[in-house]
Amino acid sequence: MTSTSVTSPVTTPVTTSADSAAAPAANAPSQTASTEHLFHNYARLNRAFTHGQGCWLYDEQGTRMLDVMAGIGVNSLGHAHPKLVDTLKDQAERFWHCSNLYHIREQEQLAEVLARHSFADKVLVCNSGVEAVEGMIKLARRWQFEQGHPERQRIITVDGAFHGRTLATISAVRDAKLTLGFGHLLDGFDVATPSDTTPQEVASAVEALITDQTAGIMIEPVQGEGGVVDLIDSLPLLRGLADRHGILLLLDEVQSGVGRTGKLYAHEWAGVAPDALATAKGLGGGFPIGALLATQAMASGFPPGSHGTTFGGNPLASSVAVAVLEELTTPAFLANVIERGEQIVEGLQSLCRKYPQALVRHRGRGLFCGIEANAAHITNLQLMHALLDQRVLTVPARDNVLRLLPPLIITAAEVEFLLRALEGAVESLLLESADASARETAT
Ligand SMILES: Cc1ncc(COP(=O)(O)O)c(C=O)c1O
Repeated sequence: MTSTSVTSPVTTPVTTSADSAAAPAANAPSQTASTEHLFHNYARLNRAFTHGQGCWLYDEQGTRMLDVMAGIGVNSLGHAHPKLVDTLKDQAERFWHCSNLYHIREQEQLAEVLARHSFADKVLVCNSGVEAVEGMIKLARRWQFEQGHPERQRIITVDGAFHGRTLATISAVRDAKLTLGFGHLLDGFDVATPSDTTPQEVASAVEALITDQTAGIMIEPVQGEGGVVDLIDSLPLLRGLADRHGILLLLDEVQSGVGRTGKLYAHEWAGVAPDALATAKGLGGGFPIGALLATQAMASGFPPGSHGTTFGGNPLASSVAVAVLEELTTPAFLANVIERGEQIVEGLQSLCRKYPQALVRHRGRGLFCGIEANAAHITNLQLMHALLDQRVLTVPARDNVLRLLPPLIITAAEVEFLLRALEGAVESLLLESADASARETAT
């Protein structure tokens, strides 16, 4: 990095008056537990948390940290939300599991709430994001089969997407990082590689791949892992393509859904509806759950016995998700997401102007935010670590982007804390690099 002149460095962590940690639960796991017996498939940071409250997490040393990753977009209502805690306790005392061979009233209630607030007529509840996406891929193929088009089995995806880690979903994007060593991939996916992210370019790259074997187009309205790439404006063109060619529009809203962009589902910004949609992450506010939403017509692609899950839609997960949706659909809730999103955009834009050596631009919508770091000088990982020193948790993405995915209940004061911490992180990185260049010049 080149040497920079930096005024008023903010190198110490910003603090607030509410820094005292609440006590962890008496039955918290031992702090001497280790990763010895765990697979090493995650590159974990050396930190563990004992408990959380609202947008804050407390680590084992009692340090209070602002959680601006929310378990990668999961803790939509923050930590220990009283309504979710009460709902879970209440359901835990009644019953936890019941087979889908019987009616599950809590699941029926969840399906009703999801349908009432979306394009969908029908809901299939499962346990995770990838399970919802996998179900959507199967449904698209099976629906075409039921329509008398067994040859329509292929699904078009968009380069940079992330749809999960099953064999089908890694086959869907063919990213070498995900597929290395896993042998034969599943056939039936065509990856569009638009040269830029304009709606016209995305649509024409997709259209070029449509054949008489295409079942549908699958896309994340905002690519999360791919670097917070907003593709929402291409949805009307893709809807048009799907209609003209008799194929399906399939949305992976696992990360962009459940209020993250300021609408319950991101595609609502585009004013068009899909045929099916995968949702998860924020839906359970931290309790594992996913769901496949579809129109009446498309849901007919799964006749009895064609698809299923043991745990999907169990009473615990379903009742918590109903409570999450009740909160999210109160009139003021999404207005706060939009306002806080605007506050972050304003703050980030001003930091980008002030520190062009470090920050390039803001990406995303609502509280689905990314900061593109200036690759000539700093990496997103350096920024993430500098923010940890400022007591803020964030998560990296592709393209040297750092994702900001706070709980949707974040307040104006907490956004202010985040922005000050970000400025402190940037200034400390620039100071470090100025010191390094000075040492180089001296030797
Ligand atoms: C857009 C998208 N689809 C699917 C998945 C997979 O979800 P899960 O990790 O719950 O299986 C993710 C996870 O990050 C995601 O972001």
